Amino acid sequence: MNSPSPPPFSAEEGVLAERLNRPLQIGNRSLGGRLALAPMTQVGNVAHRELISRFGGCGLLFSEMCTAKTVPTENPRISPFFRWRDEERHQLSIQIVGEDPDVMAAAARRIRDEGLFGVDLNFGCSVSAITCRRIGAALLKDPRAAATIVKAVRKAVDIPVTVKYRTGWRDDPAPAVDMARRFEEAGADALTFHPRVAPDRRSRPPRWEYIAQVKSAVTIPVFGNGDVFTAEDCRKMLETTGCDGVAVGRMAIARPWLFAQWCRGYRPSAGTFGETAADLQRLLEQYFDPRRALQRMKKFCYYYSANFRFGHTLFSAVQNAPDMAAIGQALQAFFASPPEVNRRPNLNFFR
Ligand SMILES: Cc1cc2nc3c(=O)[nH]c(=O)nc-3n(C[C@H](O)[C@H](O)[C@H](O)COP(=O)(O)O)c2cc1C
Repeated sequence: MNSPSPPPFSAEEGVLAERLNRPLQIGNRSLGGRLALAPMTQVGNVAHRELISRFGGCGLLFSEMCTAKTVPTENPRISPFFRWRDEERHQLSIQIVGEDPDVMAAAARRIRDEGLFGVDLNFGCSVSAITCRRIGAALLKDPRAAATIVKAVRKAVDIPVTVKYRTGWRDDPAPAVDMARRFEEAGADALTFHPRVAPDRRSRPPRWEYIAQVKSAVTIPVFGNGDVFTAEDCRKMLETTGCDGVAVGRMAIARPWLFAQWCRGYRPSAGTFGETAADLQRLLEQYFDPRRALQRMKKFCYYYSANFRFGHTLFSAVQNAPDMAAIGQALQAFFASPPEVNRRPNLNFFR
């Protein structure tokens, strides 16, 4: 008699998958799952999203941040950031950043005209190049201006309008809860909330308890975000905060198969790490010019190195590589025998 094949999930993994695979209504559209790719400049590019889709995809994809002013005239066939594959249109939300409600509305109309899932408004980016232009997280200092932008975009399009934001400029949940209510009132269909204060670039742990407060202040879906590295973290975030979905950032760079693993029981083999890096290299070369491909491959390897006990070897070989050919050689050397894999990423690479 044949022995039964092992179940794809342990009981605990099955519970998580069941929660993540529940459909979620966002505005007038329905998503097939609740695990999302968080927006990430440069690393969340079209090549990386194709890699994720090769493992079976995920619920919702957020693009990297696009400057709203450029969106109406951007050419999606050659743009490094306003770019997608036809197959992902139905689940790709384009993130825009800007401060002028009319400009944001015009960008949203272009996104709608391209037949994409939705438009995501960035009120979370706290790098100084953005906040010194009084956009991104800087707008959290002016709740009325932020809400006016949401209203203008809401009026402009009927596709889902979502907002990504963080705690604000001081470690206090009250302004974040107030912002959540303002965003909902202004017409946002869902929120992604990253509970860190704006000047903190991930040096301190996110305050997940603030996600629970934001969630209970609004009726629209809330995606929790911040420091979800393992399936256990994901389950804990869902359970302790009551959030409707989870947006994963850095770990989705380190393990592009994470969506397949947590939602469908995919198990990476010893060869998966090396093959995935080589696949991404090929995809980046296909989508980007050599300079941009190299830049993005280096950025990817920054997070990918966090997977390995001796990740610093991969990290320095890649960062010192003058071109993609040298990166190919570095990958071959590092993955010649399967490297020792960390269960949780080495956070030194993740900051
Ligand atoms: C390289 C990188 C680029 C990012 N770019 C953006 C961005 O363009 N827009 C945005 O809203 N957040 C951006 N973020 C923040 C992430 O979306 C996310 O909030 C943060 O990484 C915390 O989630 P994680 O712990 O799952 O990585 C970026 C983060 C990283 C690491």
